[in-house]
Amino acid sequence: GSGGLVDRHGRVATDLRVSLTDRCNLRCTYCMPPEGLDWLPKVEVLTDDEIARLVRIGVEQLGIREVRFTGGEPLLRPGLVGIVAAATALHPRPEVSLTTNAIGLARVAPALAEAGLDRINCSLDTVDRDRFKQLTHRDRLDDVLAGLAAAQRAGLTPVKVNAVLMKGLNEEDALPLLDFCLEHGYELRFIEQMPLDAHHAWTRGEMVTAEDILERLSAAHTLTPDSEERGSAPAERWLVDGGPATVGVIASVTRSFCGACDRTRLTADGQIRNCLFAREESDLRTAMREGATDQELADRWRIATLAKLPGHGINDPSYLQPTRPMSAIGG
Ligand code: GTP
Ligand code: 5AD
Ligand code: SF4
Repeated sequence: GSGGLVDRHGRVATDLRVSLTDRCNLRCTYCMPPEGLDWLPKVEVLTDDEIARLVRIGVEQLGIREVRFTGGEPLLRPGLVGIVAAATALHPRPEVSLTTNAIGLARVAPALAEAGLDRINCSLDTVDRDRFKQLTHRDRLDDVLAGLAAAQRAGLTPVKVNAVLMKGLNEEDALPLLDFCLEHGYELRFIEQMPLDAHHAWTRGEMVTAEDILERLSAAHTLTPDSEERGSAPAERWLVDGGPATVGVIASVTRSFCGACDRTRLTADGQIRNCLFAREESDLRTAMREGATDQELADRWRIATLAKLPGHGINDPSYLQPTRPMSAIGG
């Protein structure tokens, strides 16, 4: 075959999300238990060269235009700078970004910028030191804040901040987070929590909805819809107090954006997932290690894309959570 990554519902995947590791140095309560998880065996994790090859095939043969590196925590990957450099050296050059908790970014932000990284998104659910420790089981807020500042200085902009609000845990952190982001020029997005936690503890009743979030923010700020075209972006954006600063809400559950989805995913162990919620994966690692050609790998990727689900199905009575947790898919 030839051509891009098209599914049976007519969507075209041009945005590749690559998980570089399933490990993380934080333990956000909605993601990982304090003791961690059973990590992928090292032999199953793709090498830097294997990742670079699959990203190249995506860009050169399959029409990928944006590459996002995720984790777990991608900064834990020793070869990250080289992996980024390999992606930005491709033609046509994809946009390359990173979703990270920013721990350690203070040190490597300049090298990442030098390697061509365009921008970063950082997960941060509170700017209160005690609450950060409570939510992540680690006392690392200062490292995160230093990482964010370093990213901005290095030009990895716009710096975006992703916050998941949870009932009774950090709802009151919403306004301080917004003030913090307004003050520093970071673009804040609130995310509805999805049922992707390792311990399958998500409940609809515990989820803070987009409506809840907007109501809370509106108590202190005037929000007006941003007129900029949203396209396939997951976030709906509002101008804060007339702009130019914006705040976004990623309402994955209550206002799903699957109909406009343009994503395909590669896990750290070399499996293609056509959806965050896919129940099946396509094993490119084994094929690659058994000697598959670029053409054969591209064909497998196209076939894996065809069967992409129309949507995540979280709201269906028969919904089944994927077996891999978020930390092993890459958000
Ligand atoms: P940009 O808008 O390009 O900066 O990236 P992004 O928002 O897609 O990336 P990021 O990694 O920051 O993801 C933010 C949040 O969007 C994630 O935490 C998820 O909650 C949600 N998200 C990302 N990709 C998907 C997806 O394919 N499906 C759904 N339902 N949610 C997604
Ligand atoms: N639902 C929504 N977002 C989540 N994230 C992690 N787990 C979930 C979940 N269950 C977010 C993190 C990070 C992004 C990649 O995914 O906050 O910013
Ligand atoms: Fe795309 Fe699946 Fe995410 Fe929906 S849930 S936006 S179809 S990856």
